This record gives sequence, structure tokens and C-alpha cells, in this order.
Amino acid sequence: MSSGQRYRDLMSAFPTGIAVVTSLDGEGAPRGMTCSSIASVTVSPPTLLVCMRTGSATLDAVTSHGAFAVNLLHEGGRHAAEVFSGPAPNRFSLVEWKQSSSGLPWLTGDAFAVTECRVSGIQRISDHALVLGEVDRISQVEGTPLLYGLRRFAAWPEPVDATVAGSRGGRP
Ligand SMILES: Cc1cc2nc3c(=O)[nH]c(=O)nc-3n(C[C@H](O)[C@H](O)[C@H](O)COP(=O)(O)O)c2cc1C
Repeated sequence: MSSGQRYRDLMSAFPTGIAVVTSLDGEGAPRGMTCSSIASVTVSPPTLLVCMRTGSATLDAVTSHGAFAVNLLHEGGRHAAEVFSGPAPNRFSLVEWKQSSSGLPWLTGDAFAVTECRVSGIQRISDHALVLGEVDRISQVEGTPLLYGLRRFAAWPEPVDATVAGSRGGRP
């Protein structure tokens, strides 16, 4: 087995939540892609990172607009995850969404939490870019996160409210 395949197998055994990262392109049109490579970097200032493939229209929009939204999908958001990773030419016509007061696209039907970030750094590594975002704003309602691991979508084993779980002392 190639080392690339072994590495893919390794990372597929590390389940994550799923988000759709959205922004606006140079003409003000919404762009978005499904992402699981998201991590918290630091709490002060609140900063996260997203890893996006170079050549992505969404990455180009994030870079030129200088800001992006991270829409955390709830357990019913699998369709949105597939739309924003698939070949549909107009992804936003297939989901419910709105522009926030800052103009960034929010997936109102499929996300239980959205955070808006200002780009604070970009590091290109081979065929991907590591985008650092400083959090400007968070909107979160009750919801159970959609999960992805072992190359499939999954639901949390029992109903949970991510808002309450966080405020009970879980790691931010
Ligand atoms: C579950 C899942 C997670 C994904 N995570 C990422 C990711 O973190 N980074 C990335 O570049 N692509 C990721 N992808 C692939 C992109 O969603 C896909 O290439 C998409 O078409 C890119 O959109 P764009 O290039 O049109 O902007 C993921 C796909 C799926 C199904």
C-alpha cells in the first residue's frame, strides 16, 4: 500500500464535524464548499483554521473577500454537505440560505451554528492553503452536529444539544 493511501486511511479514522465554508466572489456571488479540515488554533484572539484545496473557487472568494463564514451542519445537513462537495453548478439554489448583515452567506436550513471570520493569514502547502480566520461573530442555536469519519456520514449516538454541551464546561 502506498504511503498516500495509508495516510488517507489514517485520517479517515479520525472523525470530525462537517461545515460549509462560504464567502463572496469578486462579483458578490455566493461561493461555498464542504470542509472537514477545520481546527481551533487559539482562544485569544479566537482563531480557527480551514484547509482548502488550491484551485477552489471558494478559496479564491475567501482570499479576495478577506472574510468567510463557517456553517456547522446539523445532523439533517447531509444533503447540503453533498451539494457543496459535488458538481452542481449553482449550489446555493439547492439549499436554504440568506446573507447576514455583513453580507456573508449563512445556510439557514442546514447549519445549527455559524461563525464569521476575518482572514488573518494564509499559508500555502503543496496543493492546499491553510486559511487562518479570526472570529468576529458567532450565532448558535440548539442542534446536534453532523459527523464524518470512516468515509461516511454519521449521527451522534444519542440526541444532544451542542449549545448546552458547550456551556456545561466542555472545551470551547
Ligand atoms: C465530508 C467532506 C469533507 C471535505 N473536506 C474538505 C476540506 O476540508 N478541504 C477541502 O479542500 N476539500 C474538502 N472536501 C472536498 C470539497 O468539498 C470539494 O472538493 C468541493 O467541490 C470544493 O469546492 P470548490 O472547489 O468548488 O470551491 C470535502 C468533501 C467532503 C464530502
